[in-house]
Amino acid sequence: MFLAFLSLSLGLLAHAELSPYTLHEKRTNIPAGWTLTRRHDASSVLPLRFGLAQSNIHNLASFLDDVSHPDSPNYGDHWTAAQVAKTFAPSDETVETVKAWLISSGLSPDRLRVSPTKGWLEVNATVQEAEDLLLAEYHVYTHDSGKEHVASSSYHLPSHITHHVELVTPSIHFNTVISNRFAEKRSLGTYMKAGQPGSPGKGPKTTGEVNTFLTELEDCDKQITPDCLRALYGLVYEPLSGDNNSYGIAEYTPQAYLQSDLDMFNRNFSADLVGKSPIFVSIDGGVLQTENQSLGYNGESDLDLQYAMSLVTSKQNVTLYQSGDIVQGASFENLLDALDGSYCTFEGGDDPEKEDAVYPDPHSDEPGAYEGPEACGTVKPANVISTSYQYNEADLSVFYTSRQCAEYGKLGLMGVTILYGSGDSGVAGSGTGCLNPDGSQSANGTIFNPSFPSTCPYVSSVGATQVNPGAKVTDPESAAAQVIFTSGGFSNRFAMPSYQANAVGSYFTNYKPPYSGAIYNASQTSRGYPDLSANGINYVIASNGVFQLVQGTSAASPTVGAILTMVNDARITAGKKPIGFINPTIYSDSFKDAFNDITNGTNPGCGTDGFSAVPGWDPVTGLGTPNFPKLVAKWLLLP
Ligand SMILES: *[C@@H]1O[C@H](CO)[C@@H](O)[C@H](O)[C@H]1NC(C)=O
Ligand SMILES: *[C@@H]1O[C@H](CO)[C@@H](O)[C@H](O)[C@H]1NC(C)=O
Ligand SMILES: *[C@@H]1O[C@H](CO)[C@@H](O)[C@H](O)[C@H]1NC(C)=O
Ligand SMILES: *[C@@H]1O[C@H](CO)[C@@H](O)[C@H](O)[C@H]1NC(C)=O
Ligand SMILES: *[C@@H]1O[C@H](CO)[C@@H](O)[C@H](O)[C@H]1NC(C)=O
Ligand SMILES: *[C@@H]1O[C@H](CO)[C@@H](O)[C@H](O)[C@H]1NC(C)=O
Ligand SMILES: *[C@@H]1O[C@H](CO)[C@@H](O)[C@H](O)[C@H]1NC(C)=O
Ligand SMILES: *[C@@H]1O[C@H](CO)[C@@H](O)[C@H](O)[C@H]1NC(C)=O
Repeated sequence: MFLAFLSLSLGLLAHAELSPYTLHEKRTNIPAGWTLTRRHDASSVLPLRFGLAQSNIHNLASFLDDVSHPDSPNYGDHWTAAQVAKTFAPSDETVETVKAWLISSGLSPDRLRVSPTKGWLEVNATVQEAEDLLLAEYHVYTHDSGKEHVASSSYHLPSHITHHVELVTPSIHFNTVISNRFAEKRSLGTYMKAGQPGSPGKGPKTTGEVNTFLTELEDCDKQITPDCLRALYGLVYEPLSGDNNSYGIAEYTPQAYLQSDLDMFNRNFSADLVGKSPIFVSIDGGVLQTENQSLGYNGESDLDLQYAMSLVTSKQNVTLYQSGDIVQGASFENLLDALDGSYCTFEGGDDPEKEDAVYPDPHSDEPGAYEGPEACGTVKPANVISTSYQYNEADLSVFYTSRQCAEYGKLGLMGVTILYGSGDSGVAGSGTGCLNPDGSQSANGTIFNPSFPSTCPYVSSVGATQVNPGAKVTDPESAAAQVIFTSGGFSNRFAMPSYQANAVGSYFTNYKPPYSGAIYNASQTSRGYPDLSANGINYVIASNGVFQLVQGTSAASPTVGAILTMVNDARITAGKKPIGFINPTIYSDSFKDAFNDITNGTNPGCGTDGFSAVPGWDPVTGLGTPNFPKLVAKWLLLP
């Protein structure tokens, strides 16, 4: 015992001389709802996992530019999944360097295991061993709900290891999943993570039932129908490419659509879709639960599918990615694992210390628990994928958001367009208010609170607009400001991508916001969002057997997805590739007049008016709303 202890400390000491430790990750606050209970027992065992640094990841932006920039000779030459996996797998040098460090620190080689894709190295270590390895202290934290979580407030790595490791878990990451079922018994919002996909009660905002349809285009200021959207954006198009094209909508259990709602909507707005369902793809036990029915449980799925299916017409199928079983639900990572096998952590399991649900479901005693293996590379991604949920950037750790963001970039390399609604809280965060100087979020915070994944430079973020009260469908729209305020602003984490440097630069030159750097990232070097926008106010939907009006960027995103799917149809019919990652293209000079520039309205929050919509790109409505005829003509000119 004494000897073992001695050799371990000598090992660490020797290392410390060769390679001093540096701080790798640190947390500045304990998230709301959690209390530090005690120091963890030194002899408890932790499943310590090292997320190994991916090769070539620093070249991702230029790889993506190469296949997505309209001036690139390789425009549209998207990569295969195998090419992506091979290019970004951690190098043998990385795997061997981290292994050698662990072995020299006293862990025997037979205790180390590398995941099949080489992305992760796992070792079961005692708390004492982990604390020595990482110069960290592990504590047990208790949630108000009674759930316990093991975490450290910081950890270190030897400096020769830091560039081989992206993150270590468990450590500072504090985003454990509180099961939907449990949360629901208590007050929602306190226990659910803000923006957690599938949270009941996270449905679109409604302003009540509709008893009379206003079917004239003059009434689009009061009710948005598919015809209003076709009129607003010039979407007159009949798709021809059939199953050679695809459009995916992501939903998270227990959120589910009702066929009776789709049929009710379609009887009035898209007669030839009555009886038609989306193509159902179940990921990690994804089911269409019918036990609970309400706007909160069905509204988002009903909305997304009614508009996606209606706008692409009966001649184009829509695919529904339904992720998660009834017990755990799922996170964006569960969907990403299904779309890209090289992203999966371990055989059949994601990382429970983060935001993600684990499959096979460990709650096998509960009815509805999915006991099959986690979906890993089993789903071929659709050409366009729209998601109407989001987190706040500050809900998630820096390493977690950057790893997930890179994954969106890889899907872009494969030719997939990834759309996320920008959020419905103006410059504030969804649910949790604004930021404090220490990075925590509270109702009385004063710092703008950007949303994620919208701040990831490899997704296309969609804001919301409105037809002004009393205005015609041919009049210019404004930023959405009824019931919701469209979200937009600047990331606190992600650097400004080159494709938006000119647009954002001229925004700051001509319309510098009247706020100091103390309340938003005014560095002019960070990612601005959204990228584009579409109407998100007063959508007529059928949900739970009644027609009602709903609002949100969650309406705008599936609408933009449908429009881009029709652009893909035109390209595919012409023998060309799908549009893939659109940002370098839509910000390019040749696409300048392909959007209806929105120049009126603001996105208030955090005690301010927020930013203002202005000529050109702005952090409220992005480049503006799509002009379909121009977009399709321009995209057909590209190779
Ligand atoms: C860690 O322990 C768990 C539970 O005993 C086991 O399933 C897993 O295979 C172990 N992992 C390693 C790398 O030894
Ligand atoms: C339905 O709601 C009840 C009561 O809130 C809850 O116990 C149950 O878990 C919910 N079921 C699903 C599938 O979400
Ligand atoms: C789909 O693509 C295949 C191969 O290019 C082609 O033979 C087929 O006609 C296409 N289908 C439609 C509906 O365009
Ligand atoms: C839609 O999918 C169904 C079922 O896979 C298929 O039979 C049908 O041909 C598809 N329709 C179109 C327009 O691609
Ligand atoms: C919707 O369609 C149904 C069935 O065709 C019809 O009875 C109803 O009047 C329509 N609703 C409105 C408000 O037009
Ligand atoms: C903000 O609210 C929190 C409770 O949510 C309170 O503890 C804190 O003192 C408040 N801060 C200010 C500056 O009012
Ligand atoms: C602003 O964004 C940049 C990313 O370009 C980041 O490095 C910086 O830390 C951010 N500043 C603040 C105050 O969050
Ligand atoms: C600007 O937007 C506001 C709502 O935010 C609206 O009331 C007003 O009519 C709009 N003005 C113009 C000129 O579009």
